[in-house]
Amino acid sequence: MPLVSMRQLLDEAAKGGYGVGAFNVNDMEQIQAIMGAAKETNSPVIIQASRGARSFAQDRYLFHLILAAAELNPEIPIAMHQDHGNSFETCKSAIELGYTSVMMDGSLKEDGKTPASFEENVAVTKKVVDFAHARGVTVEGEIGVLGGVEDGHGAGGTGLEHVTDPDQAVEFAELTGVDALAIAIGTSHGAYKFSKKPDGSVLKMDVLIAIHKRLPKTHLVMHGSSSVPKDLQDVINQYGGKLKETWGVPVEEIQLGIRNGVRKVNVDTDNRLAMTGAIRKVLWTQPEKFDPRDYLKPAREAMQKVVAQRMTQFGQAGHAGDYQAVSIAEIAKGYKDGSLSTKPLVAR
Ligand code: G3H
Ligand code: 13P
Ligand code: ZN
Repeated sequence: MPLVSMRQLLDEAAKGGYGVGAFNVNDMEQIQAIMGAAKETNSPVIIQASRGARSFAQDRYLFHLILAAAELNPEIPIAMHQDHGNSFETCKSAIELGYTSVMMDGSLKEDGKTPASFEENVAVTKKVVDFAHARGVTVEGEIGVLGGVEDGHGAGGTGLEHVTDPDQAVEFAELTGVDALAIAIGTSHGAYKFSKKPDGSVLKMDVLIAIHKRLPKTHLVMHGSSSVPKDLQDVINQYGGKLKETWGVPVEEIQLGIRNGVRKVNVDTDNRLAMTGAIRKVLWTQPEKFDPRDYLKPAREAMQKVVAQRMTQFGQAGHAGDYQAVSIAEIAKGYKDGSLSTKPLVAR
């Protein structure tokens, strides 16, 4: 199957009432781990690359690795997504490369650190929507700001500083016409999200539910959705790592989100923890090893296990064969003739 539009994948998820994990990649082993899990569980997938990933792996390497994934797994719908685009230029370059979806994260200014004004966010996101939709490419926007910093990206601070205002979310969706909307509900990127198991005072599922009621046609996106399971933390610390005690987003809260309009669930940290734990274990217990395959193979297997588990928990498992890919050219026609418009967005 060719790469599919993320919009198609999320529309199908909405019909089926499930969520789709969006997993970050930087290298071949991570792509293979995701595809192994997708095959194992018969799941559609979103593979996403941050700006950091694109520069680490180089665009052409990463893009061709994902094309290889599509060629080798024709039965699996794959959307290729730019994660946290910081500018029109970043999104344009991804679209020109062949990505089928982009995130314009206009919640922050182009420096990826400073919160942007509502007007700035609307202007840059709308510009990306116009460019992308004319080419059949999906757009995710963000309103509200997540906590934490990952690889220089993020406003820092806790996730509670810029929780999304539901009225602004409605206005933003109306003004931009985004296909999917990331909202801030108290989560942060990275391993250090919460200092104890989160309750409603720090993880604002009530805000998410309020937004979904007002924007029933817009696919909601949960960022910072790693669960940071204790067993993955323990493996790292058992073999010489130094992670401080921390809590992520419990899977049951994500499942509550999925019952309330969340269609895309971003997970990176859990996979980083799984791979690093597996590598540490080999290097710690078998210090004589020096062939990278001796630790990259267990790392790939550990990531595949986490991804397969999430695919099952999010409900996408079993849905790879539900539909045929609609070409990007057809999708572009749908945006042009209005059949793919998410408006009127608001439940009145
Ligand atoms: O949004 C953050 C993702 O975990 C990607 O992180 O920018 O370090 O590649 P990165
Ligand atoms: P985590 O750091 O919780 O895995 O979040 C990843 C993410 O939101 C990528 O955009
Ligand atoms: Zn994110």
